[in-house]
Amino acid sequence: MIKITVIPGDGIGKEVMDVGIEILECLSLNIDFIEAEAGYECFKKNGTTLPEETIKNAKKSSSTLFGASTSTPNEKSPIIELRKKLDVFANLRPVKSFQGIKSFFNGIDFLIIRENTEGLYSQIESIEDDGNKTIANRIITRKASMKISDFAFKKAIGDNRKKVSCVHKANVLKKTDGVFRESFYKIASSYSNKYPQIIANDFYIDAMAMYLVMKPQKFDVIVTTNLFGDILSDEGAGLVGGLGLSPSANIGDKNGLFEPVHGSAPDIAGRQIANPIAMILSISMMLDFLKEKYYSEQVELAVENVLKAKKVLTPDLGGKSKTMDLANAIKDELKNLI
Ligand code: NAI
Ligand code: MG
Repeated sequence: MIKITVIPGDGIGKEVMDVGIEILECLSLNIDFIEAEAGYECFKKNGTTLPEETIKNAKKSSSTLFGASTSTPNEKSPIIELRKKLDVFANLRPVKSFQGIKSFFNGIDFLIIRENTEGLYSQIESIEDDGNKTIANRIITRKASMKISDFAFKKAIGDNRKKVSCVHKANVLKKTDGVFRESFYKIASSYSNKYPQIIANDFYIDAMAMYLVMKPQKFDVIVTTNLFGDILSDEGAGLVGGLGLSPSANIGDKNGLFEPVHGSAPDIAGRQIANPIAMILSISMMLDFLKEKYYSEQVELAVENVLKAKKVLTPDLGGKSKTMDLANAIKDELKNLI
């Protein structure tokens, strides 16, 4: 029995979660879904954006699926808190071109690995000087930096990738990003004898932002800190067709948490036009984590085939179809494949 905690959250999070569950129900897997709450609506109802019950369920599940949450004034982000509570230290955000999707480049295939537990998203902020001075703590530890770099190299080796690039701003943030870069090269040298084929290099975040829109095909694995990873992954999404197509996995030693990169999209919520593919591809990543490699691949293939056919597309992809039309096309394709 696979236990999956599902947290639809707010806005389009709920709409794409409905699709996600339908996709999982197409597979011959014995899944027990445990519905849990988080987000702004949850805050209005329960006074917290992330109830203890939700954390407890997520911790004892095989994995957790998260939709999206709307930010709540003066409250911590529930998804950032949940990532920390589950100690899912590595946030994996693949950026891959799709056939049939119009974008500036073809042949993009890189993976952003973002440190998930610290950095500028420590959510430790303070106010001084009668509100005139506000401070955010940017925490970078050697331990977390080594751990995320080690994860990146292991992933690169496992996926037969050829290059791992560290992204930082160590020329200005000399202490914090100094430690991040130093840790990266320490880990790189521990792999260099056995895996000489893997190139290790590093870039400043501002330069990387430019390179990604000039020669994105040159990148393979990018490992970076929390905020930089968040920004680069939306940039990556923009390179291959937008946030509607961008999935993510949060992986730790014990837990896995899977979610689309996008937020609750209040501008389109409630209109049934959200693209469910980011969620469906997050499910494909979850199935891989659950060692259901066959189903993981078939779900991804079903998405690719439907996009290639260009018949059923939501408005973000230039079409006129509704969320459920695209979901049904992918479900039909999936049923044909399996
Ligand atoms: P967003 O990701 O919700 O939307 C950005 C743009 O992309 C919007 O124009 C939206 O319509 C479009 N978009 C996003 N997902 C789409 C989909 N599946 N299909 C079609 N179009 C899609 O980011 P935004 O607008 O900056 O934030 C909205 C709310 O979501 C805020 O309250 C923010 O704090 C929250 N947020 C939550 C996240 C999470 O729960 N993981 C991540 C990012 C933002
Ligand atoms: Mg983001």
